[in-house]
This record gives sequence, structure tokens and C-alpha cells, in this order.
Amino acid sequence: MADLDQLTSQQAIELENKYGAHNYHPLPVVLSRGEGVYVWDVEGKKYYDFLSAYSAVNQGHCHPKIVGAMVQQAQTLTLTSRAFYNDMLGKYEKFASELFGFDKLLPMNTGAEAVETALKLSRKWAYEVKGIPENEAQIIVCENNFHGRTTTIISFSNDPVARKNFGPFTAGFIKIEYDNLKALEEALGSNTNIAAFLVEPIQGEAGVYVPSEGYLAAAKALCEKHNVLFIADEVQTGIARTGRLLATCGDCACVDKNCSGAPEVKADILILGKALSGGAYPVSAVLANDHVMNVIKPGNHGSTFGGNPIAAAVAIAALEVVQEENLAQNAFDLGKVFRAELTAFAQDNELVKSVRGKGLLNAILINDTEESSTAWDICMKLRDNGLLAKPTHGNIIRFAPPLVMNKEQLMDCIAIIKNTISEFKK
Ligand SMILES: Cc1ncc(COP(=O)(O)O)c(C=O)c1O
Repeated sequence: MADLDQLTSQQAIELENKYGAHNYHPLPVVLSRGEGVYVWDVEGKKYYDFLSAYSAVNQGHCHPKIVGAMVQQAQTLTLTSRAFYNDMLGKYEKFASELFGFDKLLPMNTGAEAVETALKLSRKWAYEVKGIPENEAQIIVCENNFHGRTTTIISFSNDPVARKNFGPFTAGFIKIEYDNLKALEEALGSNTNIAAFLVEPIQGEAGVYVPSEGYLAAAKALCEKHNVLFIADEVQTGIARTGRLLATCGDCACVDKNCSGAPEVKADILILGKALSGGAYPVSAVLANDHVMNVIKPGNHGSTFGGNPIAAAVAIAALEVVQEENLAQNAFDLGKVFRAELTAFAQDNELVKSVRGKGLLNAILINDTEESSTAWDICMKLRDNGLLAKPTHGNIIRFAPPLVMNKEQLMDCIAIIKNTISEFKK
């Protein structure tokens, strides 16, 4: 592979095009290094990362504490499978369960796997605890959801590109409008075989849709009334991204496990991924209390890599970084500045239709059609000007920098975004 050692960006792109499946449409930039809020391309150009690998790199690129924990564990013990115990998993399960306020954690690797796990768990609970007749359980989901790419998960997606020619699909899902309590109440009231309601506290992939104030708490109350599990998919919103440890937390911004601030919504099942490892390693998890989690027995579910010692060491370090560096508070404070600056800018710029988000999970809606290339073209110009972001759904640009960003860097980024959009001609 000596001839491949020093690739130019063009050569790297050509290699991926020729030898890789075309399941993504990346922005043409080839990255070879990252540190904190910055990444560098193979030609040495430096960029602000304003996507954070879809909110996985909340703790910043190559955080020394996380990398240190990973290297140390990799030199000690990497994988045992769950055929045997390892000396890291229990420590991680205790730490994360206590931090998020649950009795138990079930370790997985990717977000989609954790969502699948939560669906299986809620179905089993429905048959064995709630008493729904076998194979009759239904799970309520929301329109425009994004929970991953597996066959069951795309079965309840309404994105035609994600679904076309992947059928037949898994049955047992009822789709309702997001942020619509009446629709939820009707769905719960019209069927006694509902096991769970699966919801994203903010719809990230759909374009950073923040639901109305109080929606999540009211939805949880409705679920309680009907003895239905409330499943929060916080794969993208969790781990300080939205200015709280979880997006389902209330007004308390602290990440201290002894915090007395009551959560706005305490999910029955919590799904985490992405930043659970700071983007260093695939780590996901499902958390629940015993009355739910204890329906899972040996042989019911598992994964060769889920709960491996590296994942456990990395996740502990990644969560400690969130606490030690007050990342929830930082995301809360900087998010306010970001939205205020861009909202003011949008008043005088006809290209920006609206600005929305929470903490450092934000998006701008570009005043053009979903089919137009305007948002993509803006992202290309942002790239040229040293900031990386990616459009979603054609005319929305998501802005989600690492949470280790400081105010000076944020103001620099805001200037790049404003200047780029101001110079932009359709
Ligand atoms: C809310 C949500 N759930 C699940 C997933 C799937 O995670 P993964 O890509 O790790 O499978 C994502 C990924 O973007 C997500 O945003």
C-alpha cells in the first residue's frame, strides 16, 4: 500500500467512489486529523467541525482523556465477549446507570442496535408484564422520525429514499404526527395493545424540530395513564448536546448525579449512543429500571462486542469529560448566543427563513425548495471559508459543533456563517 500513503483529496475521493458502496453523498472534503473543535484535510487546510459526526464528537476530536482511556484499555484487554465477565463492564454500568438515574444498562454498539434493543425490550415487557396477547403488541412512533437504518427501523420510517425496495417490512407500528398530543391520546385510547411510545425529544435528522414547550412531559403523562412505556431516543440529543445532560432533562443544566433538579421527563427506556464514547468508538446503551429490564433473560438478546472492556473504559472517560468540563452548561450558554446572533442576521437576509434549535443542536432553514441546491452550495462555500456543515432534507443546514468550543471560537464561526451567506448569490 506504499503508493497509497500520501493521498491527495482527489485520490482519496476516487478510491472511495471506486471501491466503496455509494450509500452516502459526502461533502467533498477529505479529513486526516482532528483536535478539539478543529479538523484538517489531507492538504493541511484547517476547518471548524460544525457537524461533530452527527453529534457524536461532543467532547471534541481526539480528547486526550478519552483516547488515553482507550489506548490503556486496548493494551490490557480488548474483548472477552459476554461468555465471560470482564472487570470494566460492571464499573461502567454502575457509573452510567447512576448518572442517568436508572437501575440497569444494556450495552450495545450502534444507535440503531440500541433502538432495536429498546423495541424488543418493550415488546417483551408488554407480553410478560402488561399482559398483551402474544404477537399483538403495537408501538407508537412519530412521522418524520429517524431512528437508524435496520429493516425493522425503516419499517416505520416515512422517508421514501430510506425505504424503497427494502420491504417486506416489520409489522406492529402506529405512526402519528410529531408534537401532536391529541394524536397520541387518540392512538393510546383506541388500542389496548400498545406497548410503547418511541420518540426523539428533538427530531434531529428531520431538520432539528423542537417540539412545543411541555409536549414531552404531557406525552409521558399520557403514556403513564395508559400503562405504556415512554421510550426516549436520545442518540443524537443526549450527552449535553442540547444544553442539558439529556434533552428530556428539565431546566436544570447540571450533569451531577446528585443534582436535585427534577427531570422534565423521566423516560421508562432511555436510548443513548454517539457521544457516549465521544465519537472515539461505537458505544450505545439502553437504560431502564428493573421492572422493565428484568424481562430480559440469558439468551434473549446480545452482541459479541456490546459491553466490551474498551467500550466500557471509553464511555466512562467520555461521560467524565462531560461532567468535568461542564459541557451541558457550555452548550446551553453558547447555544443562546448562536441563535440570538443568527436570528438577528436572518431579519436582514432573505436566504435564511428561520433559525431553530436547543443548546448546540441548531439549524437554519434556507429560503428555497428542498430540491434546490442552495443549501448544498452554501455548505460548499462554508467549507471554502473553513467551516464544515451539511444540509439535511435539501434546504436545512444543521449546525452542531463540538461542545468544547469556547465563545471566541463560536463568534469566529458565526462571522464565517454570516459572511458566507451574505456573499452568497443564488
Ligand atoms: C435519534 C437517532 N437514533 C438513532 C440513530 C442511529 O444511530 P447509528 O447511526 O449509530 O445507528 C441516529 C443517528 O443519527 C439518531 O439520530
